Amino acid sequence: MERFFNTAGPNDPTDNYTLDPLKRIDLEEVLTLIRRKRYFVLHAPRQTGKTSCLLALRDYLNAHGDYIAVYVNVEAGQAARNDVARVIGATCDNLADELQRVLGNSLPTEVRQEVARIEPTAMLQAFLRRISERVPKPMMLIIDEIDALVGDSLVSVLRQLRAGYANRPAHFPASVILCGVRDVRDYRIVLSNQDIITGGSAFNIKSESLRLGNFTIDEIRELYGQHTAETGQRFDEGCFPMVWEATGGQPWLVNALAHEVTDRMRENRDRSVVITAEMIYRAQERIIYRRDTHIDILIDKLREPRVRRVIEPMLTGSDEFDPEQIPDDDIQYVTDLGLIKKERGKPIEITCGIYREIIPRELTWSKQQTMVTREPGNVILSN
Ligand SMILES: Nc1ncnc2c1ncn2[C@@H]1O[C@H](COP(=O)(O)OP(=O)(O)OP(=O)(O)O)[C@@H](O)[C@H]1O
Ligand SMILES: [Mg+2]
Repeated sequence: MERFFNTAGPNDPTDNYTLDPLKRIDLEEVLTLIRRKRYFVLHAPRQTGKTSCLLALRDYLNAHGDYIAVYVNVEAGQAARNDVARVIGATCDNLADELQRVLGNSLPTEVRQEVARIEPTAMLQAFLRRISERVPKPMMLIIDEIDALVGDSLVSVLRQLRAGYANRPAHFPASVILCGVRDVRDYRIVLSNQDIITGGSAFNIKSESLRLGNFTIDEIRELYGQHTAETGQRFDEGCFPMVWEATGGQPWLVNALAHEVTDRMRENRDRSVVITAEMIYRAQERIIYRRDTHIDILIDKLREPRVRRVIEPMLTGSDEFDPEQIPDDDIQYVTDLGLIKKERGKPIEITCGIYREIIPRELTWSKQQTMVTREPGNVILSN
């Protein structure tokens, strides 16, 4: 079957046009950190290809034979919030399942049962210790969606990792990657007793944090070139500056535009049709109009006061926008979300054309909604 541009979840190179995920990270740097037994953070905005990279890294490490690499996604913990017992229990269950697949034996299930009665605040640590002692090679643990966890549950995971750290690699994973949107050490975590601590103080392991970037224009050409090579359908040269301007190389947007123009715009399924810049423009409008999940997540973020504090002054005109007046933390947060970019020597700007279209529309709309709810006597809806 013809491959296609992926717009849902991690990439599978057998089904999806794919840039080698291991070329998107500094593999040499990552391997050095792993060899040095570091615990470190990999972070990037939503739908940038984090999970695709982590899964490829796991497979690479297992294929090269020096480590037993295991990937676990803790997203399920989001619903359990501060319920440490549920989060830690589910994390141990997932870990055991994932390890079982890597090892191909029942050791992980046995260890999972052994630790079942240990209290949740020590259960993950006990599981990792016992399993590390009984597998034939050092363990490498990859934890994805770490920022889906909040409060007591997040702190419990970080503290249990820290508690075993000194005993690696014989009695604990040699290396750990924590992956999420932000550097977990920057978080302010609100505990159930209302205390606030930082992720850094709970983790307290001084280490690197790596960021996964967007595609370059050459990578966009390479990705679209895979479609041309496999189907014969060409992209007119004028498409590339347009895709670049619209997406800023944001990986999901780059795929979504191509998927829209080569697949959802049915007339273009005729592969003799050459894709033009005008078609890309129409595809962009359709994506904005349809509000796919990626766009919805973005809009959702605009409701946060921290985000508005940064974005709103940017939209009121460059003269009034003074980044010095905005707390660094807020700017960093909005940068980590992928909404704005800071390039050396340039003013801060919204990351890409599609976001520049959506953000002002949404902010104006939601402001009007607020005014309507605040002043029920006045209907102020206008366009
Ligand atoms: N190696 C790649 N080559 C081409 N496109 C990719 C690649 N990796 C990711 N993408 C694009 O990015 C999208 C998201 O990928 P993935 O789920 O790996 O990212 P993520 O950062 O883990 O996302 P989330 O924040 O939702 O967990 C894919 O659906 C695809 O459109
Ligand atoms: Mg992911």
